[in-house]
Amino acid sequence: MAYACTLDFNSDAFRSAAYQHYATLREAAPVFLSQPPGQLPIWYVTGAQDVETVLLDSERFARDPARISPQFAAMMGGDQSIAFLNDHMLNRDGERHRRLRRLVNKAFTLKAVNAMRPRIEQIAERLLDQAGPSGHLDVVSQYAFPLSIIVIAELLGVPAQDRDDFRRWSQLIVQQVGHDLSELQRCYAEFASYMLALIEQRRAAPTDDLVSALVQVEEDGNVLSSSELCSMIALLIVAGHETAASMIGNAVYLLLRHPHTLIQLRDSPDSMANAVEELLRYDSSVERAMVRFVTQDTELGGQRLQRGQLLMAVVGSANRDPALCAQPDILDVARPACPHLAFGKGAHYCLGASLARQELEIALNTLLRRCPGLQLEGTPESVRWRYVPNFRGPQALPVRWSVA
Ligand code: HEM
Repeated sequence: MAYACTLDFNSDAFRSAAYQHYATLREAAPVFLSQPPGQLPIWYVTGAQDVETVLLDSERFARDPARISPQFAAMMGGDQSIAFLNDHMLNRDGERHRRLRRLVNKAFTLKAVNAMRPRIEQIAERLLDQAGPSGHLDVVSQYAFPLSIIVIAELLGVPAQDRDDFRRWSQLIVQQVGHDLSELQRCYAEFASYMLALIEQRRAAPTDDLVSALVQVEEDGNVLSSSELCSMIALLIVAGHETAASMIGNAVYLLLRHPHTLIQLRDSPDSMANAVEELLRYDSSVERAMVRFVTQDTELGGQRLQRGQLLMAVVGSANRDPALCAQPDILDVARPACPHLAFGKGAHYCLGASLARQELEIALNTLLRRCPGLQLEGTPESVRWRYVPNFRGPQALPVRWSVA
């Protein structure tokens, strides 16, 4: 596919027409090797069935680069001074992954997530109170990001007075692009020493929060070490912050582009839970799952893959595959939810899926109820996509509404 050789999957041009490009790839080259000059070649997998295969088969498609070789892991691991923060379950396979996942599952329970509901509602109301009188708001920076970071911080048990530092560290950890290495190292070091101190405090005097629960989880005498706890907390922040915030941005953008749907949902908030599934399917904030490493020479979608090659499972494309959902390019929030891969599949299926669903439902219902006549300021085409590889969400989403 000659045209695809020149595609830069992270460029603005690609992002604004991503779903058209993916439809072409699914049709003509569903497992496609991208080789931009000066970059590592990467296989992009765009069909639903192949994406599922990749996510389910961690024997052939690993998350842990050490399964290829120690040298390969060192090459993929980036700067060694911050490597310990990356030693978390999303970067591990097999029994090492299962042990960490079992332990965190004991702390990150549905009961704990459901208990957050009234607090998430209160946070959403407060953020709109702050912006309210003006009738103007940037949904991304004034609503979606503060909401998702406060939720994670409170769930973990970060005290309110440390929230600003926590937010600064989280943003740097998530969005490393554009910052130099020494700034990142300083930020990681501050974050790690803060978290280690918090872990020790909770060990000494546990309270009713996730850090206390994680400190106490134990299975057959097996507990999380302080360094495992620290990287687990970093993972929860990275995995739960950008994803949920960008998804609120994507969902609001979609509703503004489908005003009848917006009005239907405003008048029937009970339909929001079903609508959230369709919004996740239609434009997920996780466009591609984390990179996988091919562990053995193998075949996928008629292509020969070699051990050590990199592979991207494009969940955003799979969600628009007609094999998964009829008329996939139509946003229909009333349809019985189509199966989707927005939260991944298999061993690494999203730990925070129920929290994310709840945040989305509350954020959207509160915004629609509080902001009558909600409209985008500027044209839909003026919206730009954030530069965060693999994720998808608007950089800014300025809106206005009628104030009494
Ligand atoms: C709309 C919001 C979200 C989306 C679309 C999303 C999507 C995903 C996807 C696709 C994966 C699998 C990645 C892969 O296999 O490479 C994943 C994993 C994960 N997610 Fe989410 N996520 C969201 C919100 C959250 C939240 C709020 C949290 C937690 C607070 C969270 C925590 C995690 C964790 C810890 C993993 C790794 C699980 C493992 O390795 O076993 N996510 N998420």
